[in-house]
Amino acid sequence: MTQQSQNLVIGLAGLGTVGGGLVSLLASNADIIERRTGKRIVLKRVLVHNLAKPRTVPLPPDVSLTDDLTALTDDPEIDAIVEVIGGKTTAKDLISRALDHNKHIVTANKALLAEEGQPLFSKAKQRNRILRYEASVAGAIPIVQALKESLASNHIHSLVGILNGTSNYVLSEMTNRHLDFTEALNGAQKKGYAEADPSLDIDGHDAAHKLVLLIRLAFGVHYDFTALPIHGIRGLSKLDIELADQLGYHIKLVGQVREAGTNSTPGGPIEAGVFPALVPHSFLLARVEGAFNAIHIKADAAGSLFFHGRGAGDLPTASAVLADLLAVAREEYPNNTGFALDLPDATVADPNDWTSCYYVRMMVEDTPGVLRDIAGCMARFGVSMSHVIQRTTEDLDLVPLVLLTHETTEKAMQSALRDIETLLKPKELVSFKVLS
Ligand code: HSE
Repeated sequence: MTQQSQNLVIGLAGLGTVGGGLVSLLASNADIIERRTGKRIVLKRVLVHNLAKPRTVPLPPDVSLTDDLTALTDDPEIDAIVEVIGGKTTAKDLISRALDHNKHIVTANKALLAEEGQPLFSKAKQRNRILRYEASVAGAIPIVQALKESLASNHIHSLVGILNGTSNYVLSEMTNRHLDFTEALNGAQKKGYAEADPSLDIDGHDAAHKLVLLIRLAFGVHYDFTALPIHGIRGLSKLDIELADQLGYHIKLVGQVREAGTNSTPGGPIEAGVFPALVPHSFLLARVEGAFNAIHIKADAAGSLFFHGRGAGDLPTASAVLADLLAVAREEYPNNTGFALDLPDATVADPNDWTSCYYVRMMVEDTPGVLRDIAGCMARFGVSMSHVIQRTTEDLDLVPLVLLTHETTEKAMQSALRDIETLLKPKELVSFKVLS
């Protein structure tokens, strides 16, 4: 901390939505910050890509703009750097160099920390610097703090969350307004929820980055991002949303991690992934609407916990960034990962053995023997069905036939689906996991 002033002097990298929100919040809540920390947080300089771009957020008169990252990292008066530029390459150079110059770091960069976080955590540890990242997962929801500190005494059994607001908005619109995928996505783009290129959100990668960070915090292991199974919601059919709803479920894009099988040993095998799943209407997760995020945790001592809030946006994300800065101002030095030792690689259970209930929908001819053949394929691999419904329609040659299964393994389910494909050649065959 700068000795003379007892202020925390910061450099801000990025003046987009989150950076702008932080500048506003620093100004509007300056008194609260000072009452809580005994210090003022003083913004000295802002790194931007384009110096000439007009700015909508008014900056204090003594704050300068720069397009040179070393003007932040190498300035001896700056105590901490906030990185909200996103992307991996420049952000990594910035954080790495800033740590070399003994700066504390606050970042919202989930992609960088999920894919290339290890060396940055190691460097922060070597240099005894604070590296905080509350805003990188689920915006305003204080889930990093909760896992790292508030639930630190617990053995976490499982975590499942809605971690991408854009996808949840699209699915909510499909469910509530009966839109098809493209209509709902176009609407999300018009409202500013979805980017012009929505692939990071819609294809599940953004949720996967957040899940890797949550796995690290909850289980104390490093899960290789490239090995995480990721399935997004692109092209999901409105028919499945409607049929699932009739059966008592909403389809949600979830990120899930849990102890595998009956394992309940800390450090034992886990299973994890991002995928669209049927969530029973009775689960709180099913009622998470629009661009909101939510996380449900099961822990041995604390029991079941549910967190819900805004996962994006200027002030909600700035709220998390600024809370981290307050922790830096208080000079709180918890382990940045939440664990004292270097993190081992995750032991991942064989995906063939992962278990779930399933929803299966296929388009078939409405003729005698079809159901018998499907039941035969299921029985051959020991998959037990709990519900079968067929919707008769006047306007289709083929009818949707839907089954729900009891819990079975991924291997058995995929084998049965392959058999159905070969035997019946259904026009469409889709399946989703069902949360239970
Ligand atoms: N694009 C993300 C979402 C927010 O839609 O949830 C930032 O991670």
